[in-house]
Amino acid sequence: MNKNKTVLVCGGAGYIGSHTTVELVQAGYEVIVLDNLSNADASAVEGVEKIIGQKLKFYNIDCNDKTAMDNMFQKEQFNSIIHFAAFKAVGESVNQPLKYYNNNLQSLIVVLEMMKKHNVENLVFSSSCTVYGQPEILPVTEQTPRQEATSPYGNTKQMNEDIIRDTAAADKSLCSIALRYFNPIGAHKSALIGELPKGVPANLVPFITQTAAGIRETLTIFGDDYNTVDGTAVRDYIDVNDLAKAHVAAVNRLAEKKQKTNYEIFNVGTGNGRSVLELVKAFETVNNLKLNYKIAPRREGDIEKIWAETTLANEELGWKAEKTIEQTLESAWNWEKKLRNL
Ligand code: UD1
Repeated sequence: MNKNKTVLVCGGAGYIGSHTTVELVQAGYEVIVLDNLSNADASAVEGVEKIIGQKLKFYNIDCNDKTAMDNMFQKEQFNSIIHFAAFKAVGESVNQPLKYYNNNLQSLIVVLEMMKKHNVENLVFSSSCTVYGQPEILPVTEQTPRQEATSPYGNTKQMNEDIIRDTAAADKSLCSIALRYFNPIGAHKSALIGELPKGVPANLVPFITQTAAGIRETLTIFGDDYNTVDGTAVRDYIDVNDLAKAHVAAVNRLAEKKQKTNYEIFNVGTGNGRSVLELVKAFETVNNLKLNYKIAPRREGDIEKIWAETTLANEELGWKAEKTIEQTLESAWNWEKKLRNL
């Protein structure tokens, strides 16, 4: 294995990790997938293997397990890591904060310690637009001040960013990029991988596709009294394949030593905001079906609207979202249909 062309993907069996693994391999990287399968399924790795037509090196390891991580770092040669492995359910984090602080902070600390110990230089980190809270001015740029987190999950993302910032300041050999994702949706065009939530989906698009598939009776739209185009909340929905390609661009930037400073942050979104109702209508139109939905009060902790300014990612990473919302919503439905044999 060529150390500089090999990437360790922590959380590689997850939704974004699996799509990113595909894009990395197709861009010529070798990938080592690491996942403890606590919130992912081994079938995602099989799906990736089918798409890329080769077997992957897979480690079932918890990033918090320092001994197991140390052994793996000893055994394998790689110079870049993408760290996806984290819990991400906002509501659950409110009820079980210690689960989130333990896992999301400790796993990053172990990764950084192992990087130092084994001379691994490059880290791409999964951050989130949640760090902006409800911004006063839209779209948000990377300079938009962060606001106090509204959930323990959001707080772990802010703290993770700070841990990387401080470590990178103390150790110039660490080269890191945090990508602040907006709302990832959709699936691979093969329908071999996609979003696979356990239990009742908390996020909008899986709830939509499961409602269309008849698994859920009615989609509940949380709030129609926001100050937006139609009263429903606005988000920047980014195709998961486009998001995956942003990771490849970030890994390339690190490998080619193109960074301006050794810790950089990029927004990864489309630059367009869409309301929940707009998304529902687009889903119905492109897939030629009708969804049962009802309006209910706002969901606690939700913000009204957010979308990204993406100029920095466009210019510095040379990356731009390419898929239309229609293509993305079609891929989400194709994935759900394949999953349910419809
Ligand atoms: C949240 C987090 C984000 C995190 C993501 C992953 C915040 C501000 N955002 O995104 O950082 O990465 O979860 O889990 O913390 N909706 C409905 N009905 C539903 C489900 C959702 O109307 O059944 C609405 C929501 O109220 C929201 C929009 O759809 O307005 C998107 O919701 P969701 O997909 O859950 O993502 P966020 O809450 O934006």
